[in-house]
Amino acid sequence: MAKFRRIGVLTSGGDAPGMNAAVRAITRKALEQGVEVMGIIGGYSGLIHEKLVPLDAGSVSNIVMQGGTFLYSDRCLEFKTEEGMQKAMATCKKYNIDAIVAVGGDGTFRGATDLSVHGIPTIGVTGTIDNDITATDYSVGFDTAMNTVLDAVDKLRDTCESHARCNVVEVMGRDCGQIALLVGIAAGAMSVCIPEVEYDEAAEIAAIKAAKESGKRSMLVLVSEGVFVTDENGNKVPYGEVLRKKIEAETGIETKFARLAHIVRGGSPSLRDRLAATKMGVKAVELLLEGKSDLVIIEDNSEIKSMNIRFALTVDRMYKKKLKDGDLDAFTAEEIEEMKAICAKRDAYIHHLYDMAKAVRR
Ligand code: F6P
Repeated sequence: MAKFRRIGVLTSGGDAPGMNAAVRAITRKALEQGVEVMGIIGGYSGLIHEKLVPLDAGSVSNIVMQGGTFLYSDRCLEFKTEEGMQKAMATCKKYNIDAIVAVGGDGTFRGATDLSVHGIPTIGVTGTIDNDITATDYSVGFDTAMNTVLDAVDKLRDTCESHARCNVVEVMGRDCGQIALLVGIAAGAMSVCIPEVEYDEAAEIAAIKAAKESGKRSMLVLVSEGVFVTDENGNKVPYGEVLRKKIEAETGIETKFARLAHIVRGGSPSLRDRLAATKMGVKAVELLLEGKSDLVIIEDNSEIKSMNIRFALTVDRMYKKKLKDGDLDAFTAEEIEEMKAICAKRDAYIHHLYDMAKAVRR
């Protein structure tokens, strides 16, 4: 068993409810195994600028229920430079950090692979509200974010019903429409617009009009922030606001617009997120102590597993159609087939839910 004396833990990228629960689990599991833990403050920038604190069991008390991340977070551009990396490595050496667990999304995992190339074993724990990491069915923060959106949308429903209005609601998720789609189903939205599925605007507006004519008073339309259109001046504009105007003009229904923005990232993590964070954090430490690294912890059909981090990042680029020349060169034909199967599974899942959302609306 590879025994580390001291590991580092950091949270990076957009914060997500449950990150604290993950840090708590990583810290307590490591301490239980006799391994010291340093908290790295502000993501990778904490490594560059030597901002670290020793964590003991008490340091992570009473954070399991807190939103945000008590280690703070950052999207650190300096870490992508060779100079930044050298400073980070020097910090690891100075503080005797033998390995790192990094909690975050795809940007965090890219940082983790850079560290491991330079000799620091790393394991990633998924923490992003977007649930946009193709390799995993679930990422910490997703459930809480969906519940926050659901709560807001239910409230909009109340007032829409009173005033016979429509409300277009734009929600976060970057290029991933899962928050909009799943909440759309749960909230009984009339229409859902996400980057993964082509939006039949004319048919959707016609459905809203028909629902109004059949007596429906309140309409909710969920639009993912990742959907854009190009305006007459060639500028990329968020589609939600454009759609609001079109619905109002073409159906005669008074239509409001709401952008929930960063409110979706806050709040106390749900039970689902606290459990996922704890299971994934513990698994990360167990694997590190077994001498394994360069992994990302994933959930696959409700089971907590791990996947090679480069494989996971490549699957992600494949699904998002962002593969660059040479990206697949390091993989066998069998591995590439496996990646394609993961992408097909995700695609089928999204389309299945999209069809379901349409089937159950009025
Ligand atoms: O990745 C999480 C996320 O909240 C996305 O949904 C959103 O597009 C982005 O981060 C916003 O980033 P920032 O907090 O840097 O504005």
